Amino acid sequence: MTEPSAQPPTAQSIDEIIRSALAELESLENLEAVDQWRVSYLGRRGSLTAVLRSLSSLEVEERRTIGARANQAKITLEDRLEDRVRHINEDALKRSASRDRLDVTLPGRPALAGRLHPTTKIVREICNVFVAMGFGVVEGPEVEWDHYNFEMLNIPKGHPARDMWNTLWMDYEDPAGEKAMLLRTHTSPMQARVMESREPPIRVVVPGKCYRYEATDATHEWHFYQVEGLAVGEGITFADLKGTLYEFARKMFGEERQIRFRCDYFPFVEPGVDLSIDCFACDGDGDGCRICRDSGWIEILGAGMVHPKVLEGVGYDTGKYTGFAFGMGPERIAMLKYGIDDIRHFYANDLRFLRQF
Ligand code: DAH
Repeated sequence: MTEPSAQPPTAQSIDEIIRSALAELESLENLEAVDQWRVSYLGRRGSLTAVLRSLSSLEVEERRTIGARANQAKITLEDRLEDRVRHINEDALKRSASRDRLDVTLPGRPALAGRLHPTTKIVREICNVFVAMGFGVVEGPEVEWDHYNFEMLNIPKGHPARDMWNTLWMDYEDPAGEKAMLLRTHTSPMQARVMESREPPIRVVVPGKCYRYEATDATHEWHFYQVEGLAVGEGITFADLKGTLYEFARKMFGEERQIRFRCDYFPFVEPGVDLSIDCFACDGDGDGCRICRDSGWIEILGAGMVHPKVLEGVGYDTGKYTGFAFGMGPERIAMLKYGIDDIRHFYANDLRFLRQF
């Protein structure tokens, strides 16, 4: 660093300032040192500033030439200062990049997109088929009264049909002792709730979660979904039931499907049936087929004409109104459709399973 001199500036003294300033600048490695350098040459008391100030003491002719040289020196120092700062910054960036092993050319990791659960998808698919036929979609409570889950469905207390549903009772004591609470064992309780709240014509499907006091295995879960259906109006017959469910089976499983009805018993319908489709895996041949277990038929739902006692229970005129109801398990439908061999996969939260849908 050159001290400000009291002597009048000369071309040599200016060159000398530039030479030593530039030599010094090249050796500086950080921004603080560079700033000190700037202060000592170009600052208010800097040596080049002192030269510029003392120009006034020179003769006119000399002032022109020395002045021009001094101004040029200032521009040179400022330019090189800027270069040095840029160099130090780039250097620091490179060093930190190699220290943190940041490979800026590495492609980013794609963000995982969520998706709908397979049960949600199949429930929506089922509902959409019925919506296209003019049904509305309603939901109901998962914690239900004995009254709706059983009584209103023609399953009084002590009736052996109660054994068809292994029930999870709530720890709730009603003072009157009447209103026992439970986790609904099916979505059928919404039949009475819907009929109580409106007049025919009624066409609804009821998707929702159900619960049973049940040991789990490949075909049983203690919680699962059901889609219930109900149509009530004037002049509804078993032919309407058949036509509606036939249409549903073909939309879900393919246009070429055949269906079969057999008698079955559910206390809230009369007559009651179960519906099977001809096996789409073996086309009904049944020979060594795992899906239909050699029978050629796959059972997909229960159904029937709404029992007059159920209609009476909600105050409907059974001379005027008739209806049909049906109920199915969406997980079972998905298992058949996608060849899933264990219902427990649905709720085990294993991404390897869930990602396939
Ligand atoms: N709720 C019955 C069950 O959980 C299924 C069912 C069968 C619903 C026949 C119906 C029906 O509406 O008509 O097993």
